Amino acid sequence: MKLVSHADNAVTITYTAGRPYLSVTPDWTGRLEIGLDRSQPLDSIAWMEVFAKTAKAAADLSLPGCRLELDGPAAQLGDRLPYLLLMGLSGAGYRFRKYQTKAQDAAKIPMVLSLTGRDEAFDRTLDRAGNLVRAVLLARDLVNEPGNHLTPDTLARRLADAFAGLPVEVTVLDPAALEKLGAGALLAVGTSSVNGPRLIALTYTGAPEDSRRLGLVGKGVTVDTGGYCLKTPAGLLGTKGDMAGAAAVSCALLALAQNGVRANVTAVIPACENRLSDGSMIPGDVITSLSGKTIEVGNTDAEGRLILADALTYAIREAKATHLVDIATLTGAVCAMFGSSRAGAMTSDEGFFAQLLAAAEPMGERYWLLPGDAEYDKLVDSTVADVKNRPGSCGTIAAGLFLRRFTEDKPWIHLDVAGTAWTSPPIWAYQTEGATGAGTATLYRLAETFFQK
Ligand code: BES
Ligand code: MN
Ligand code: ZN
Repeated sequence: MKLVSHADNAVTITYTAGRPYLSVTPDWTGRLEIGLDRSQPLDSIAWMEVFAKTAKAAADLSLPGCRLELDGPAAQLGDRLPYLLLMGLSGAGYRFRKYQTKAQDAAKIPMVLSLTGRDEAFDRTLDRAGNLVRAVLLARDLVNEPGNHLTPDTLARRLADAFAGLPVEVTVLDPAALEKLGAGALLAVGTSSVNGPRLIALTYTGAPEDSRRLGLVGKGVTVDTGGYCLKTPAGLLGTKGDMAGAAAVSCALLALAQNGVRANVTAVIPACENRLSDGSMIPGDVITSLSGKTIEVGNTDAEGRLILADALTYAIREAKATHLVDIATLTGAVCAMFGSSRAGAMTSDEGFFAQLLAAAEPMGERYWLLPGDAEYDKLVDSTVADVKNRPGSCGTIAAGLFLRRFTEDKPWIHLDVAGTAWTSPPIWAYQTEGATGAGTATLYRLAETFFQK
């Protein structure tokens, strides 16, 4: 993205629904003031909301262009302003229209940004924020992509394409390679489909002198039928989005690499379908994970934690991650608790989690820490294997504690985004029906701040 500067210290953003980019200033007339709701806290979400409503107003009124005067409270946002501005504007106009044969081009509305004290440093931040916003929108695209088009194989290919030319090593393990490695849990789920599983690892080393490495593990279930514990027709709808964790970790890494952020990060994606076949799992089966731990499969629909277990082991043993964050659309229970505006979280390290919360706020994302006390940990004990995947109660907490068994005492955060990855109807103006891109910006910011000290 290139910024075009003007004598009056303004920069022009040509607003295309879903895609921010910059071009030359047009003329403008008139004045439109977008107010703030003073009864609500003026947090990051509120700011994105203002910018999103501005974009919508400009589109609704078919304005030929507009000038955004961002002095006053907006100027106080400092470094937070560029992301919130671009995400608010482009989030509102985002549409997934790939499969509409008569889809019309979105109107382009030039927006002139005027801000006292705007300098080169600000323009660079704007440029970097643009990359992150595009990454969030790519995450939305991937999540909205129908399951018959986005299989584990096509997900791996799309990611390899997205990373072409960037300093990121892309490793894709196919079923034969997974067999050789011993990834028994990912295989147990993934071989339920003719579209076999993949393990995708994306390695970025932007801080070679730092010995730490962040392992970002994202659930990549491209279709979740539940397997023999078959979902209902209503339950099946929307399971194309069961790879939102994968979208978040890969798109966060994409923006980190594009922006050359000083960070060492490996994204690990267990990608598979959870279907019915002659060979697919049956409740009561015992499988052996990559870690060597055995798992009693009590419910074939609790597939996410099975594949994530192998991915965590891979992140530790193969990618040499020193710190772990997993992100997954893991439990229906978290939707019942928090709806679509807040994700559930678990951790083994409160200091690490504090860093995640600090990274989430400026990006307008919300997480809530759930307890992981010892008495809950018994929920995942099995009488026939080392662990079991069907807890019986405390669904979201037990899912997190199941995963913790595979973290080998590394500092670990678990994010259950089953509620926030998708919104129908949208809660905020910068969202549209469907995928939200949840987690992408927070993970980007966490990686950026984590390696600053
Ligand atoms: N992907 C689902 C969780 C989910 C449910 C995400 C609804 C988004 C909306 C996951 O694989 C699943 O099916 N979880 C089960 C686990 C249970 C069988 C222990 C659930 O939460 O019902
Ligand atoms: Mn499931
Ligand atoms: Zn699932």
